[in-house]
Amino acid sequence: MLKRVLGTKDILPGEINVWQEIEHYSSQVFSLYGYQEIRTPLIEDISLFNRSLGDSTEIVQKQMFEISRDKETYVLRPEATAAIVRAYLENSLDKKEDFIKLYYIGAMFRAERPQKGRLREFHHIGCEAIGSLSPYLDAEVISLADRLLQDLGISGYEIKINSLGCVEDKKKLADILRKELKEKLHSLCPDCQERFQRNVFRILDCKNESCRKIVEGLKLSDKYLCASCLEHFKNVRENLGRLNVHYKVSPFLVRGLDYYTRTVFEISHPGLGSQDAIGAGGRYDNLIKQLGGSDTPAIGFAFGVERLILAQAAQPKELKTERKAVYIITLGDVAAKEGFILLNSLRSAGIAADMDFQAKSLKGQMRRADSLFSRFVAIIGEDELKKGVVGLKDLLSGEQKELKQDELINYLKKGLN
Ligand code: HAM
Repeated sequence: MLKRVLGTKDILPGEINVWQEIEHYSSQVFSLYGYQEIRTPLIEDISLFNRSLGDSTEIVQKQMFEISRDKETYVLRPEATAAIVRAYLENSLDKKEDFIKLYYIGAMFRAERPQKGRLREFHHIGCEAIGSLSPYLDAEVISLADRLLQDLGISGYEIKINSLGCVEDKKKLADILRKELKEKLHSLCPDCQERFQRNVFRILDCKNESCRKIVEGLKLSDKYLCASCLEHFKNVRENLGRLNVHYKVSPFLVRGLDYYTRTVFEISHPGLGSQDAIGAGGRYDNLIKQLGGSDTPAIGFAFGVERLILAQAAQPKELKTERKAVYIITLGDVAAKEGFILLNSLRSAGIAADMDFQAKSLKGQMRRADSLFSRFVAIIGEDELKKGVVGLKDLLSGEQKELKQDELINYLKKGLN
């Protein structure tokens, strides 16, 4: 039998409502905060990511799916931030508006070793706000991520924040880390010994037991921050307080991509195991200039949709499944004809409806109604035909009543809203 590619997943009809719900709630929340959707291609020129994510990052070093064609090398996008900056510049969005808020939903690809919560094709829901350095914006973006999780019924997560400072500060932080780790270099794992020169920040994320112990023993402070970055970070924290966002400052949070400066954040959920980051983001104030634009600060984040779904599954509370549709149950040939006409009338009135096309028993039809997450069943049997009514059962409240067909549509329209 042919199999799907390692690290990819089929999203089956039984799971799709969860995906659609996450997409629906996210679009609603992003719109509420003034974001517009953007869709960029799944393939990009390899140089885009080499230039933006950094030569020494794990993604560029070993995780990109490359496609060579006509002497060009493309990659399946490993993340969207760089692609959106490319689109922003290529389509002159910077010339049209000096501040823009964009959101996106789509597949990303990284050749990682698959495990729970870690795939080779996964999905991001994320946003980018381009054109402001205001610490109000940092707080707004983090509180938007917080709000989205609440709307998706997810709780128990932790928001960690840190400031990497400007480019100069980041260099100072890297020097401090090298100085602190120099003595312990021989006790680090071979990967971290290599990271020591190439990308010392990555050592802080190493899952190896002995590296973790060394990292936990480090004494990190915000001493590397210049006065302006220190003030910026203080304002971000104060603004988060004004928005009642609960967060923890973590000096160990550095993020894996080179483009980050100043505020960075990560949201983790304890129900996810070792891959516990459900989302992450931060400022990338130099990326737009680095990719050929003017000096334009920006900030954004992305949630991993598969991890949001795992977090929802780890919740004791059931996901808010909205039951919207009506299922028509008919008993006998005459009732089936009536039901078929009613089905058409309901759909014409904009009410999602379905019925049995397999001559199932009453029990079988009820089961089908439930598996389709129907809110109401409309029953037409011999009795109902005689009385000229439809029996209506609300599957949420259990309430039952009989209604004439002409009353039914108005009643359902109200009940389903
Ligand atoms: P990232 O931390 O690489 O950031 O990815 C964001 C989220 O995507 C992670 O927190 C995780 O939930 C999910 N994720 C990452 N890799 C995988 C994987 N292999 N399988 C499943 N889920 C995964 C970024 O990509 C940045 N572009 C975020 C950003 C936007 N920063 C500023 N704007």
